[in-house]
Amino acid sequence: MDTFEKYRPRFHFTPKANWMNDPNGLVYHNEYYHLFYQYYPDSTVWGPMHWGHAKSKDLVQWEHLPVALFPDSLGYIFSGSAIIDKDNTAGFGKDAMVAIYTYHDPVKEKEGSELFQTQGIAYSTDDGETWTKYADNPVIENPGIRDFRDPKVFWNEDRSIWQMVLVAKDHVQIYDSDNLKEWAKISEFRFADNPPLGVWECPDLFKIKVEGSEEEKWVMIISHGTGAPNSGSGTRYFVGDYDGTTFTTQQKESLWIDYGTDNYAGVTYNNTPDGKRIFIGWMSNWEYATTTPTETWRSAMTLPRELKLIKNGDNYLVQSIMIDGFETRYSTVSAEKVSGSYPSNFEYADLQYSAISFDVMIKDELKVVLSNSLDDKYTFGYKKDSGEFYIDRGQSGLVDFNANYKKSSFQTMNIGSWDKLSLNIILDASSVEIFVNDGEYVMTTQVFPQTDFTRFRIEQPAEVDVNNFNLNKINY
Ligand code: FRU
Repeated sequence: MDTFEKYRPRFHFTPKANWMNDPNGLVYHNEYYHLFYQYYPDSTVWGPMHWGHAKSKDLVQWEHLPVALFPDSLGYIFSGSAIIDKDNTAGFGKDAMVAIYTYHDPVKEKEGSELFQTQGIAYSTDDGETWTKYADNPVIENPGIRDFRDPKVFWNEDRSIWQMVLVAKDHVQIYDSDNLKEWAKISEFRFADNPPLGVWECPDLFKIKVEGSEEEKWVMIISHGTGAPNSGSGTRYFVGDYDGTTFTTQQKESLWIDYGTDNYAGVTYNNTPDGKRIFIGWMSNWEYATTTPTETWRSAMTLPRELKLIKNGDNYLVQSIMIDGFETRYSTVSAEKVSGSYPSNFEYADLQYSAISFDVMIKDELKVVLSNSLDDKYTFGYKKDSGEFYIDRGQSGLVDFNANYKKSSFQTMNIGSWDKLSLNIILDASSVEIFVNDGEYVMTTQVFPQTDFTRFRIEQPAEVDVNNFNLNKINY
């Protein structure tokens, strides 16, 4: 039907070839959303890190660009962020794009030093095409902490100053700078986890308005190498207050951006034209990322999502919703193309590149199965009495390529008890993203069916009442 390799997503970003992990340097500039990413151009597994580069006007169709940052004598180029220096505070030029990233020195690491991660900067005055590393790198030396990385820089408009959040093993450090070259540490943020979660990675911090009010809060995002709700790596968030120096939260428990296994190291865009908070995550999990069954490339990004903050009683929740304009790619599947009894049991040949949405009144339970001619199945559902939403990819096709993938076949999230759920399910070649109740809860998972899923079925005898059912093919 088309020329895509098996499992190559159609409308999720993938590198043309070879290994990719975290999104980096998410910044909007001159009508384009730039996406840099952790990239190893010589292999389909992780290696000496570069920053790959792509840009897009709509966050869906991406143009591949040459590798932006290469390793140098200070080390590999690990994750980080990018800003537009509108006032030329660094002296690299007005509107220069400046990347702030971690240097990971493999030589020092091998020698047994703890000081092998430092922070560096580079700039581009041609929209991110060519880059010059700053001559006096690193701009932040290692203070004696082994895991010291992933700087996210943003312009703090309340204080008119650059600020950086950086992770240091088991906490976040916040820094100030006037010129992006000299940085002063101003505070730390810690959270008493019992048991502790894995190494802190890829932080973000931003101000956001509570929907439907004038109240403003700050959200801190942190990824954890291990300890996510359904095993391996995952990304959580804290809603709190920030006085320009110290971040505080009343939150007692972890809330996760995504409860599925495959959304990691996500951060948000700087400098969006409309002030929206657009998030992209890496759609994989360190527990099995290097062994997924793709051949020429490895890993995709999640769909970009807009983050919104809502308040239910005293609780704040970050919602992940479809970006504006994504629905312009939808074309409604006409009834002739569907066989079976619609909507509970039907087949449709292109199900894998689709968005399915519906509202459902649930008496006790909901169970939905996506399947194919080889009887591979991807199941998801909800149990009202326990408040548990689940996915089961245990028989979804290739599952034996890694014991950890198999171990996380069954995944759950507690969403509380609801009579009605609204669901939005996005299927691409090797991913399923499920947004529950306008993205208040999300589960993103990779899946490798032997052949495309064609069939969508609401299992009986569950007593459910389905409304507003929509099946859309996504144009790519
Ligand atoms: C997160 C991460 C970052 C690091 C990068 C290295 O997935 O471990 O902390 O900068 O990947 O590729």
